[in-house]
Amino acid sequence: MAHDNEILTNQEKILANQEIIKQNQEKLDLLLTSQESILSNQETIREEHLKLDLLLANNDRLLDARGMLDEMIGASPGFKRALREALSVAHADTTVLIRGETGTGKELLAQAIHAHSARSRRPFVTINCAALPSSLIESELFGHEKGAFTGALQRRPGRFEVADTGTIFLDEIGEVPLETQGKFLRVLQRREFERIGSTQTIRINVRVIAATNQSLEVLVAERKFRTDLFYRLNVFPITLPPLRDRREDIKLLIEHFVKKYSARFKKRISSIDKESLERLYDYHWPGNIRELEHLVERAVLVTDGNVLAIELPETFIGPVVELDETLSDQSPEKNLTGISRTNEEANLITLAENERSYIEQVLRYTSGRIAGPDGAAAILGVPPSTLRSRMKKLGLKVLNEK
Ligand SMILES: Nc1ncnc2c1ncn2[C@@H]1O[C@H](COP(=O)(O)OP(=O)(O)OP(=O)(O)O)[C@@H](O)[C@H]1O
Ligand SMILES: [Mg+2]
Repeated sequence: MAHDNEILTNQEKILANQEIIKQNQEKLDLLLTSQESILSNQETIREEHLKLDLLLANNDRLLDARGMLDEMIGASPGFKRALREALSVAHADTTVLIRGETGTGKELLAQAIHAHSARSRRPFVTINCAALPSSLIESELFGHEKGAFTGALQRRPGRFEVADTGTIFLDEIGEVPLETQGKFLRVLQRREFERIGSTQTIRINVRVIAATNQSLEVLVAERKFRTDLFYRLNVFPITLPPLRDRREDIKLLIEHFVKKYSARFKKRISSIDKESLERLYDYHWPGNIRELEHLVERAVLVTDGNVLAIELPETFIGPVVELDETLSDQSPEKNLTGISRTNEEANLITLAENERSYIEQVLRYTSGRIAGPDGAAAILGVPPSTLRSRMKKLGLKVLNEK
């Protein structure tokens, strides 16, 4: 009997222990769950930090962007029309395509549109499509999960996700490789995507502004740019005119930049040398406003007196090319101004300058002949009309066209 009692007590003990074990198990489960949620919280915190970093990086620019439309200088009809169009579309969520040569102010205008929109306090995120290595494009745009590929050590949000509720600026959109254009198309059409390594679809609300210095129509015709993507972007195109087509703005811009840089470099400048100013009006400005700004910045920096002289780049020889020089005059160590330079320095010129001097060389060879089987156009492999318009753009004029 005593033995039976002992068994019973032991059984009770076992039952009680089992209960304790069960309770402990439940506690452990709870702990494990909360540990998991701590880990996932940590992950979210890290992610938010990443987003914050990106946003902070944009913050300075955004602050500058406020009131930017007022900072955009120009009174020429072409420029004023572009500004009017920008203002009229800023408040809508319409996709804007900004066209214009390099340095005409496309990025500045994109920031100004954002600053004047209802999203102005939201992120403005730039994707420089020309600088995206094709292997990284997808992860850069859409982000990735931890372990999605070798090197993906942690989950990372993509640019579109960071731009959520704000504006995304697709700079140099013409540079997106054909094979990646479909990815852009889907996110632009549906405003949704998945991170690499995840099946969960993320929906976002972004305003799209794109910019290009290329003709997307030409790229479409050459089958380098998808037609559907082109129509998706070309909803509200705004064209910024090149500086050579808005010469009346040159003086205003010079004054603006002189003020800006003389304040920065603590110089007192009372006037601008008249002769140097005259030359600037004739110049063809291949680098547009950026080139003008750099020129003024340099001039202000090096000036000692009150009168500012703004020197043009050395390779510029004026709008007219004399064609009576012979090719032999062009020894390698002389540039077009006849100023001696080392061979290495002579190589350091812009593409436009290079194109210009090559066209000049060919024109000398054909004694100014443009059209016909031995004309410059045939040698350069372009129609005569194209060559003439290139020459006009580059400020080249043939005195004795044959
Ligand atoms: N209307 C303007 N008034 C004052 N400054 C301007 C104006 N337009 C452009 N700028 C200045 O000129 C420079 C070039 O402008 P921005 O970078 O916006 O040109 P972009 O068209 O984007 O050039 P790219 O095609 O080479 O990227 C910047 O420093 C910008 O502040
Ligand atoms: Mg730009």
